[in-house]
Amino acid sequence: MEFNIALLRGDGIGPEIVDSAVAVLEKIGEKFGHKFSFTPYLIGGSAIDATGKPLPEETVKGCLESDSVLLGAVGGPKWDNLPGDCRPEKALLGIRAALELFTNLRPAKLYKALKDECPLRPDIAAGGFDLMMVRELTGGIYFGERGRREGKYGEEAYDTECYSKMEIERIARVAFETARKRRKNVISIDKANVLESSRLWRATVHEIAKEYPDVDCTDMLVDNAAMQLVKNPGQFDVVVTSNMFGDILSDEASQITGSIGMLPSASLGSSKRGMYEPIHGSAPDIAGQNKANPIATILSAAMMLRYSFDLDKEADAIETAVDSFLEAGYRTADLIGSTDAKPLSTTEVTEKILELL
Ligand code: IPM
Ligand code: MN
Repeated sequence: MEFNIALLRGDGIGPEIVDSAVAVLEKIGEKFGHKFSFTPYLIGGSAIDATGKPLPEETVKGCLESDSVLLGAVGGPKWDNLPGDCRPEKALLGIRAALELFTNLRPAKLYKALKDECPLRPDIAAGGFDLMMVRELTGGIYFGERGRREGKYGEEAYDTECYSKMEIERIARVAFETARKRRKNVISIDKANVLESSRLWRATVHEIAKEYPDVDCTDMLVDNAAMQLVKNPGQFDVVVTSNMFGDILSDEASQITGSIGMLPSASLGSSKRGMYEPIHGSAPDIAGQNKANPIATILSAAMMLRYSFDLDKEADAIETAVDSFLEAGYRTADLIGSTDAKPLSTTEVTEKILELL
């Protein structure tokens, strides 16, 4: 089969990690007889430097014409002082909205080989965990009305959290469908003891739950969820939550896997086209040093094969290669907490994974 992939390398370590994932996809193409073509487009700070805009129209158009999008990361200190609307991060929100990618799947699991990197108490780590965070991606406070105004105490700023019933229904359905293919358990996370938007969230999730009597569904308040993730992560199968709560909790989930450098993500809408990116950022401190862990991006490419192209065997092959890589004791600099292994560079990791494929 033939697929056109738009590459948004972005900033910082983005180009290095995307190049690793491209090498892995090319190897998969050779091995399984597919043709992947890659077209690069600008996004983020590098787009600002070249065109003055974080998300040029050509990028949006290219992504809309592609079969799927692979993204590295955006942002860096060079662009930190720009006004909100011109920041690199705005491009990420913009491209998610333009492609109508309302679902963000963020799987977090503890690899057996990384148990010693898990910062949790050994008896908790021993239980392991394997969860799928389903984060709503195009609504809520990241997209709500915001501004500055004169208030009771002088200048003030505000952002608003707003969810329509429709937005909650469609993300809830994704969560239930996802749970059906896993351990049939959904935990919906909100702040319904305080927020009106969370009360609508909770009531709507309950309504949709009735369509899925085979799936267990419970609610959890977000502050409790933050505790439960470190106390008993094994209790989570599918987690469904709002844009902001999902952003925060997925970073927390990544830390208990050993490193944020391991977590892939898939952003999906109602078509097959998706956008795939590591959940970590552009790590400007190590950019260009061939040190970054490319595994999250490589695993994001595997998710692309699975969710956008229905190439499950091919996705399995990548995931198995990553497993074998870790089992063999290879480590990147972010995964060196507990061993004296010599950290591999980005290109060395890529070569090892290509060998294991
Ligand atoms: C993420 C990032 C983005 C988000 C930022 C950079 C806009 O933190 O993908 O988690 O909040 O979604
Ligand atoms: Mn984030």
